[in-house]
Amino acid sequence: MTSEIKSVGVIGLGTMGAGIVEVFLKAGIPVVAVDGSTELAERGKGFLVASLDRQVKRGRLDEAGRDALVGQATFTDQLDDLHDVDLVIEAVPERLEIKTSIFTKLDLIVRDDCVLATNTSSLSVTQIAAATRHPERVIGMHFFNPAPVLALVEVITTLFTDDALVETIRSLAVELGKKPVVVGDRAGFVANALLITYLARAIRIYETGHVSREDLDDAARMGIGFPMGPLTLSDLIGLDVVKEVCDVMYEATKEPSSAPPALLQQMVAAGRLGRKTGRGFYDYGSEAEAPADRDAATFATKVAVFTDTDEGRALAATLSEAGIATTLFDSPQEGSLADTELVLWAIAADDADDFDDDADVERRTQENAWRGELLATLAPSVPVAILDPNAYVEIGNELADGAPVVALRLHAATKAGRFAEIVRDPEGSDTAEELVAATLANAGIRSARVRARAGLLVDALLLQHLNDAANMVESGYASVDDIDTAMTAGCGYPQGPFAYIAQLGPEYVAGGLAELYDETRQPAVWPSPWFDDANAAEQLG
Ligand code: 3HC
Repeated sequence: MTSEIKSVGVIGLGTMGAGIVEVFLKAGIPVVAVDGSTELAERGKGFLVASLDRQVKRGRLDEAGRDALVGQATFTDQLDDLHDVDLVIEAVPERLEIKTSIFTKLDLIVRDDCVLATNTSSLSVTQIAAATRHPERVIGMHFFNPAPVLALVEVITTLFTDDALVETIRSLAVELGKKPVVVGDRAGFVANALLITYLARAIRIYETGHVSREDLDDAARMGIGFPMGPLTLSDLIGLDVVKEVCDVMYEATKEPSSAPPALLQQMVAAGRLGRKTGRGFYDYGSEAEAPADRDAATFATKVAVFTDTDEGRALAATLSEAGIATTLFDSPQEGSLADTELVLWAIAADDADDFDDDADVERRTQENAWRGELLATLAPSVPVAILDPNAYVEIGNELADGAPVVALRLHAATKAGRFAEIVRDPEGSDTAEELVAATLANAGIRSARVRARAGLLVDALLLQHLNDAANMVESGYASVDDIDTAMTAGCGYPQGPFAYIAQLGPEYVAGGLAELYDETRQPAVWPSPWFDDANAAEQLG
């Protein structure tokens, strides 16, 4: 088998195939680009030119550079044109029978030392290899969408794969400027097994009808810091692809969390496949609906912030900078809150156990005597927003007798902005919740009103995803480093799942999962044994 790849063929010129062509051309490797008809081959060329044109527009490439790149590709509908290339990458639709039939044909067309790679998202590379006469030259080379941007290439080996071939493809990926992760042949490999399960869970949350698509997406983008929300990302990947990967993973594992959600199945049946068909969870047509104006509600212009933390002081500063008259109460003082319109209570919560009985609540109340006196001057209808979704009942009842209490979880700022979750209280005041949301919006903090469920939205999305990653290490399939590389380089995460676990603390993650389990009783939610492993902390570096 050749160890030097100087020419490449790509079969299937959809979004992924055309992106892969671009990657090779940019690395100076000429490409024979094949699709099933001249029209499809021309369409693939169109995708390539459109992508390069975007870069010309952004000043990253000049027109001569674009033309030179396109000139290095030959577009054809003839598989026979691949007879002399060093490597063929197949990127046709995810149907095993289509792929095996192509590989069987290729086997007879290409040189004996040609490497055959599949860009399958989740199908068995072993089964594809077994359809050829030389399965030892077949390997998985899995790129991520958009291929020209995302650095991950999963190199998937099978029981047949020649060791030298693994090294050739790994080095080639590095030459292409990519980050290779070498893994065995398991449904979904590393990145899709984690990502698509997370997307399916998010779709299931959306399916409940209790959260808007924008709130759900912003919870992931702003609350977690992922580059896209799960519904926007599903639309980008294609809902048919998301469903296919779910089907393959469910078939392989019979794990309910991998099964395609009913809504996803319906959308695929209805042909709403995401961006490529103009409609998925969002509408990409010319008459795409504008998001509802969420910030039109009345907001507070005079806010009191009670705090004993730096975070609370920083929040007070943020409100002030936004032009909201904000009084900071972070040490004993007298005064009046007569004209205050909203109180933000950002006192560090005691251990949950400290509120076990009335005596503890009483102790805390006395500690807060000066705060209590101030709160007594508050007009009765003024809401008190407490920045601790768990402690609000106890603290709220004691400190703001009769005042509407709103529980809030404020997340640290991420690249996309700052996100807060306002816990919907069916017994509580709608007006108070809206006032808190509108006031935060004025200070540049996006909020969503969410149901009082374990983990609210952000942790419900993130912690189960982290648990899946921990279970993957536990199963011996991939290492902590490989998983972190896969998710940062393949899905644009600002940090990998294990870096998130290190940041949040393994106890916090495992504790949150146990709460989620108590509520859902789903086995997949139970904290992975990895969290109990004495080596877990070491693995986090
Ligand atoms: N083709 C080529 N380049 C593109 C592109 C595309 N389709 N989309 C974006 N880019 C380039 C832009 O030109 C820009 O380049 P520049 O910095 O040189 O100007 C750069 O990418 C950043 O783009 P934008 O500023 O427009 O937007 P963002 O910063 O929001 O990045 C994103 C866009 C790269 C798509 C980012 O949101 C992201 O990483 N999202 C996550 C995508 C993801 O998870 N993909 C994996 C899906 S799973 C998969 O593919 C496996 C399959 O088997 C299912």
